[in-house]
Amino acid sequence: MPLHPENDTSLNPSPNENIFDVIERADPARRRFLKLAVGGTALSMTAFPLSMRNAGAAPAPVGGIGFTPVPADTTPITDAVTVPPGYTARTFYAWGDPISGASPFNPGVAMTEAEQVQRCGMHHDGMHFFPFPTSGAGGVSSERGILAINHEYTDEGLLHNSTAVGTLTQTAAMTRASQAAHGVSLIEVRKVGNDWRVVRPSPFARRITAATPMRISGPAAGHALMRTAADPSGTEVLGTVNNCAHGYTPWGTYLTCEENFNGYFGTTVAGFTATNLERRYGISASGFGYRWHLTDPRFDVRVTPNEPNRFGWVVEVDPFNPRSTPVKRTALGRFKHESAAVVVGDNNKVVVYMGDDERNDYIYKFVCAGTYNPANRGANRDLLDSGTLYVAKFENNGVGRWLPLVFGQGELTTANGWVDQGDVCVRARQAADREGATMMDRPEWIAVHPVTREVYVTLTNNNRRRTTPHATDPVANAADGSTLAGSARPLVDAANPRPDNRYGHIIRWRETGNDVAATTFEWDIFVLCGDSLNSAANLSGNIVDAPNGSADYGAPDGLWFDKDGRLWVQTDQQGDGAGDWVNIGANSMSAVDPSTKMTYRFLTSPPNCEVTGVISTPDGRAMWINIQHPGEDWSASFKARSSWPDNGANGATGVAAVKPRSSTVLITKNDGGVIGT
Ligand code: FEO
Ligand code: CA
Ligand code: CA
Repeated sequence: MPLHPENDTSLNPSPNENIFDVIERADPARRRFLKLAVGGTALSMTAFPLSMRNAGAAPAPVGGIGFTPVPADTTPITDAVTVPPGYTARTFYAWGDPISGASPFNPGVAMTEAEQVQRCGMHHDGMHFFPFPTSGAGGVSSERGILAINHEYTDEGLLHNSTAVGTLTQTAAMTRASQAAHGVSLIEVRKVGNDWRVVRPSPFARRITAATPMRISGPAAGHALMRTAADPSGTEVLGTVNNCAHGYTPWGTYLTCEENFNGYFGTTVAGFTATNLERRYGISASGFGYRWHLTDPRFDVRVTPNEPNRFGWVVEVDPFNPRSTPVKRTALGRFKHESAAVVVGDNNKVVVYMGDDERNDYIYKFVCAGTYNPANRGANRDLLDSGTLYVAKFENNGVGRWLPLVFGQGELTTANGWVDQGDVCVRARQAADREGATMMDRPEWIAVHPVTREVYVTLTNNNRRRTTPHATDPVANAADGSTLAGSARPLVDAANPRPDNRYGHIIRWRETGNDVAATTFEWDIFVLCGDSLNSAANLSGNIVDAPNGSADYGAPDGLWFDKDGRLWVQTDQQGDGAGDWVNIGANSMSAVDPSTKMTYRFLTSPPNCEVTGVISTPDGRAMWINIQHPGEDWSASFKARSSWPDNGANGATGVAAVKPRSSTVLITKNDGGVIGT
């Protein structure tokens, strides 16, 4: 497999302008790749007063927050995306749309693998806009770029066009079609007037799926735990799954993060008993119902027992080279990855902040051994392979420590059963258990202020926490020192203060000395989410409403700072505005002023979806978000609650007419202004 052949200029069959030509023309001496990913952040540096850049606290957004908030939706939830007056939201790229071809989606027919691999995958999640370089001011385009979009998982009923999919005999063709609906879309997008379109055909259009060959790098590459019969070298794996949140590097690569990979594995071999390693990562005999293991022995954990070890990683993708091989970066540790937020500190030090989204799991930081080289893109290609992995310990007095997960240090010794750093990376959760990390209330996305580097993380909810010690609370597992944190019921603590944390919260920290590589930090709780009309102290929260309306929300998940320092919060609550959510309505996205905590609801969404994946162009004038799994209800037909975005307008009739589709949505301001102002 070729390794990052980004200098191969023979890759573009299209007569369209070649990205490499553009770069050369723009700045032949230095190349401008350095600015591809950080465009917005780089521009914003000049917008903030100098005094704020190292203040370690969040300033008010440049340009403020100026829109009229939208009200909470009420039951029945509107089957649409609603944005403030003066804004327009439209479906941009929905499941089944071609990445580069011309033929429209046919909702009435189940897609084959061959069809799906040329089309938008299912259940969009994390997303980034990679601007093309230009020779103009700032060096990056706000009119042309590549959107990288995660496809987290599938609804097998929608995919196979059957409301009784669980009763169908699983075929190899079904498994392959499902695998092809996972992974990442890379699509070229271009501004036309105040609107945008997907460029079709495009030499950059690409689907990465659960079958795409990938390289394994870092400490676990070639490790005994990573070898299989099909890959005795332990260095090549097919595909990526459950691509949830994401990250992006300043050298212009995309990081797609594997979350609930365990659900794709199962076994038909009788008498399954999970090993400690399998149990800690949730491997079971039946998985989550994908049934891939029935036709693909790679996903049968008793036929291919090491295959699960080859998932649960951060995967680096070069969006500008459609033939590049994605790389699983094992130095960053194996867990149920949410976002991988990359930050460049002083002296070009690079760190990656990461969450493990499971009840009572952890927050991690990876500090690269090398430094970022802004003048030579190729020099950064393996930066994520060497460094130190840490896990967070939140003390009760508002300070915290980063505990190194390094073989031979602390408890991670040969005497305690640890083999080498590759072993520590594969069993990162157990290493963190052993070192005494703080169990968190489901870490989801991480956002870093573009100037101060203050770090925010959403903790989406947790129903497994106690206020009083209990006799059955787990103790260290004698065999490997693991505390089996995922099934534990720990006591509340200062960083996770609520028993039954139904609505979640957002926590933030500042590294000591504003040094990204520091091993200590200060932290505080930014907001307790909730329903202000709920009289129960544990549930009412402390959200600060914008002047003209309640902004209550719960289950914070997506989180992003725009170039001006607005904090965008997206939610993933279960249900559709009933029960606990009756005063809050459907899932939403809000803009928050981090200096005042004032919260403005910007967007409401179709029933039973998740609002996720937010990014804008470097100039902030076009924004894309993702609507994932509209209408999802595991207890009912997939079409019962939503027909968004087609709403019967796709020319189909019958079942197909009301088939809901996950979709990327384009948001613009009607006056062409910056989104949020
Ligand atoms: Fe895929 Fe933790 O959300
Ligand atoms: Ca998420
Ligand atoms: Ca989620």
